[in-house]
Amino acid sequence: EKIHVIGMQMDLGASKRGVNMGPLAIRYSGLMEKLEELSFSASDKGDILAGDPDPSNPKLKNFKPIFEANRSLFEKVTTSLKEGAFPVILGGDHSVAAGSISATNQFYKKVGIIWIDAHGDFNNEESSPSGNMHGMPLSAVTGFGPASMVAFSGSDQYVDPQNVAVVGGRDIDPGERKRMAESGIHVFSIHDVDRLGMAEVMKRAIEVAGNGTAGIHVSFDVDAITPQEAPGVGTPVHSGLTVREAFLAAELIAESGKLIALDMVEINPILDEKNRTGILACELILSLLGKSVY
Ligand code: ARG
Ligand code: MN
Ligand code: MN
Ligand code: MN
Repeated sequence: EKIHVIGMQMDLGASKRGVNMGPLAIRYSGLMEKLEELSFSASDKGDILAGDPDPSNPKLKNFKPIFEANRSLFEKVTTSLKEGAFPVILGGDHSVAAGSISATNQFYKKVGIIWIDAHGDFNNEESSPSGNMHGMPLSAVTGFGPASMVAFSGSDQYVDPQNVAVVGGRDIDPGERKRMAESGIHVFSIHDVDRLGMAEVMKRAIEVAGNGTAGIHVSFDVDAITPQEAPGVGTPVHSGLTVREAFLAAELIAESGKLIALDMVEINPILDEKNRTGILACELILSLLGKSVY
């Protein structure tokens, strides 16, 4: 199988700088070599570099450079899909999912999403307490705005909220929570992971995202994992997924055979310890792509 790795050197969607170095941290963990060891035909398609910060709109901070970088990503991912490759997108702040998911959903017509994250990323310009665009992509790709964030793809290309599962949520803003509840997306919070166990949560999440779709786009924000184990993130939230829960989720997604694209985002090397979060992100990618433990 052919894999295209595409990096997004962009941190303009977050308030702390540094996640633009995430693609390098994951590559320096040996991603390309390890993909080859798993006998994939993997090519590194290089990085998209975001432009300069643009303070003009405090409700959609850095809108223009984020939009332009995402348009480039949308085109690059579309090209890879047309060439028959499986796209792996290295973030970058989570706003990159606006470009990657728009591309897969347009190409496949109907995809499901498993969004693994401490956050909902379901704000729009009105509900966001920060104006940070990494808090908005899931809302944008499901058609709940900001529409301008995904204006490079057709409005008929929104992902059906019924095919969206958020896993690991534990820090949702009040207005965001209301929007999520009204949207029809399925939320498996950290509480659900505690109560049901990750195996059952993933069984349900795969059912949600796989039902009637061409496949599942996984958008994995490493801040889903507890900060003791993944310290290299800009928006840490205490008491998150264990490393084993994260790997179990990855392994069960691989086992489903439904994965069609993957974003691995929000790795901040400035805040990391000896690249452990970068290494973890690299290993999670391999597990999601079917690396088995036995
Ligand atoms: N909900 C907060 C906001 O909208 C935090 C979002 C964090 N998102 C992320 N991808 N880390 O600003
Ligand atoms: Mn996120
Ligand atoms: Mn997050
Ligand atoms: Mn439903």
